[in-house]
Amino acid sequence: MKSIVVYYSHSGNTSRIARMYCEQLKQKGEAVLFELEHRDRQRHKIKHLLARLMPKLTNLAKMPGDIDKYDVICIGTPVWGGKPAPLAIKFITRLKNLSKKKVIYFQVYGMEASSEKSTEYTRSLLVKKGCVNIIEDDISWFDARDEAALLERIKESVGKLG
Ligand SMILES: Cc1cc2nc3c(=O)[nH]c(=O)nc-3n(C[C@H](O)[C@H](O)[C@H](O)COP(=O)(O)O)c2cc1C
Repeated sequence: MKSIVVYYSHSGNTSRIARMYCEQLKQKGEAVLFELEHRDRQRHKIKHLLARLMPKLTNLAKMPGDIDKYDVICIGTPVWGGKPAPLAIKFITRLKNLSKKKVIYFQVYGMEASSEKSTEYTRSLLVKKGCVNIIEDDISWFDARDEAALLERIKESVGKLG
């Protein structure tokens, strides 16, 4: 099984969890990590700040190459303004047909109410791409600090891949 873990992280929580997912996915075969980055971050500082909450203003530096070769796409993002972070939205909207892919979507949130909204938002984007196999992992900022509990829930999600 070939997996790619694609994530965006601003203050490090999602990044740390993405690495843990990648380690667990390696137990199932090949797994690589890809960090989503902003384009032109230094040149357009004001636009960059606004783009934090407005996906339309966000420019993705690059997409991971040859997504088609992966069986599993694991996507990780913080919840921002009740949605996935703009770069994660950009990444998902640029994906092609996902009908044959397994997707793990995890997000790190601060407030439960907005996390549900964000999960629903992402689910509907993925379903529009034909995705029928979505494993969701909704992690509170508080729970993200408990390394042992994190490992358990990540193992559980990866176990659902079969
Ligand atoms: C600009 C910004 C907006 C945020 N908006 C939300 C939100 O709408 N709902 C929520 O539950 N948490 C929100 N948070 C909290 C983040 O989801 C949380 O801090 C997360 O752990 C950050 O992940 P990271 O460390 O990978 O960047 C926001 C944080 C930032 C910086």
